[in-house]
Amino acid sequence: MNGSVYDRLSCLAEPLRVRILRLLEREELAVGELSRVLQSPQPTVSRHLKQLDEGGWVQRRRAGTAAYFRLAALGEAAPLWSVVRDAIDEEEPAAFADDLRRLDRVLAARAGDSEALFRRLGGQWDAVRHDLFGEAFVLPALLSMLPPGLVVADLGCGTGGTLPLLAPVAARVIGIDREEAMLEVAASRAEGLAHVELRRGQLHALPLAPAEIDVALCQLVLHHVADLSPVFAEFRRVLRPGGRVVVLDMVEHDREDYRSTMGHQHLGFSRGALESLARGAGLSLASYRALPVDPAALGPGLFVGVATRGTT
Ligand SMILES: C[S@@+](CC[C@H](N)C(=O)[O-])C[C@H]1O[C@@H](n2cnc3c(N)ncnc32)[C@H](O)[C@@H]1O
Repeated sequence: MNGSVYDRLSCLAEPLRVRILRLLEREELAVGELSRVLQSPQPTVSRHLKQLDEGGWVQRRRAGTAAYFRLAALGEAAPLWSVVRDAIDEEEPAAFADDLRRLDRVLAARAGDSEALFRRLGGQWDAVRHDLFGEAFVLPALLSMLPPGLVVADLGCGTGGTLPLLAPVAARVIGIDREEAMLEVAASRAEGLAHVELRRGQLHALPLAPAEIDVALCQLVLHHVADLSPVFAEFRRVLRPGGRVVVLDMVEHDREDYRSTMGHQHLGFSRGALESLARGAGLSLASYRALPVDPAALGPGLFVGVATRGTT
């Protein structure tokens, strides 16, 4: 907070400035909006805002050519503001009620104008979107871009976290894992999901008929399997012509300790390593893409690779 205590007190010694602060405590507002609520000319409001800004009472945000104001973080001046606000409320209860009525009208007008809304929100839209809707809808919505009618196998499905995402957008989903304990959890997740089934089996001898699936999904599994040639041969056998295997795994890394602590057989996969595994099984690597790193994640970076089976 700027200025001496006298400066701060003199800022509060003007009724219009106190009314401005009262409003900005509730809502971030532009000069024009304040002028309509206060029924004062814009230059007058601007002049008072300038004084409040210099005194550290308000915080200004620029959005394009517009400026928006709200009450600043007051710190040690917060008790001073509370005393003044409460005293004014007690002395003139009707004055602020009128301001509030007009504020409602100004906000309602603002809400109906989406251009103004987005101009005002600017970079804050991400936070508003998160507050209103969260993040859970993003991936299910994007998965709707998949072509309809796919038969997808989640190989090494573990506890089946992917099954509820795939079920609404695939014609059939088959979760496969070799561990009963994993499949039990996956079964409870899959309960009530249409077109989802679970099968127990190994990657090198998949419980799938030849050409049964369109997409093989293999997430965070391959680094556990020492000999991957038979696994890729199985991928080719179970894929329909034109089908693809989608591999999500770690990029090459140097965490040697993962071998002993988590039984990793491979310290990630380079593009070249994945390409030669695919080629060895008669598949071709269509893409290999490093994925964005979550700053909070402790593990190595991830990639997603897609290998396709030819159409014959
Ligand atoms: C690290 S978990 C990943 C689970 C799941 N895909 C995920 O992303 O959360 C690896 C899973 O692969 C399974 N798995 C490992 N090797 C396997 C193999 N050779 N055949 C079948 N499943 C295997 C394990 O039982 C385990 O459930």
